[in-house]
Amino acid sequence: HRTAAVIPAAGRGVRLGPGAPKALRALNGTPMLVHAVRAMAASRAVSLVVVVAPPDGAPEVKRLLDAHSLPERTDYLVVPGGDTRQESVRLGLEALPEDIGTVLVHDAARPLVPVETVDSVIEAVRDGAPAVVPALPLADTVKQVGPAGKDEPEPVVATPDRAALRAVQTPQGFDRDTLVRAHATVTDNVTDDASMVEQLSLPVVVVPGHEEAFKVTRPLDLVLAEAVLARRRA
Ligand code: CTP
Ligand code: MG
Repeated sequence: HRTAAVIPAAGRGVRLGPGAPKALRALNGTPMLVHAVRAMAASRAVSLVVVVAPPDGAPEVKRLLDAHSLPERTDYLVVPGGDTRQESVRLGLEALPEDIGTVLVHDAARPLVPVETVDSVIEAVRDGAPAVVPALPLADTVKQVGPAGKDEPEPVVATPDRAALRAVQTPQGFDRDTLVRAHATVTDNVTDDASMVEQLSLPVVVVPGHEEAFKVTRPLDLVLAEAVLARRRA
């Protein structure tokens, strides 16, 4: 069975501010999405990359991929996405050919994930885990807050033990049938794919994440991403 990577890239990037859809913004002159596609295709285990484009942007994304050099041993597909990340991933899964057994789901907004992280996620799925997430310990202490009264500051409700918390990245890796079943079963809104597998009461395991797999969310993240690229070229 082959391994595919689904890249949800259909978001607008509201938190990044006005401009083109986030995945199409340039990092050192190359669209973020192209960096993300190259990051997945860098793994020799990945034989197909499915890009989930903005709903009306699939032709533009196809042209973009054609215009950039990508590894030839990998196949590329572009499908239109949906209104939520979850729907976009589901539309990507529907485009997978029969012979795909392992699926990675990777945010276009994490363009700089190193190939070592991609490979360790794939390896853990091939070793039998139905779902795998790369994750890092937290730097900040996290507080749970309650609702604020009118004109009042938010009250702190609890402080979870930081040592037991992890910040989760992508690519997340899955047994294909498990992920398809999770997307068919779980209907509440979630922010990652592994949490849908958790809701099926199946095990999700953690492998070490990487600092460079951070998500480009706010303007400062663009500054960091371009600095990381400059350091790689130095
Ligand atoms: N995504 C998607 N389809 C959507 C929403 C998000 O494919 N309807 C993708 C984004 O393109 C991104 C990934 O999911 O690659 C992670 O989402 P996020 O970082 O939240 O990106 P956006 O939703 O675009 O940003 P924002 O929430 O700031 O608008
Ligand atoms: Mg979003």
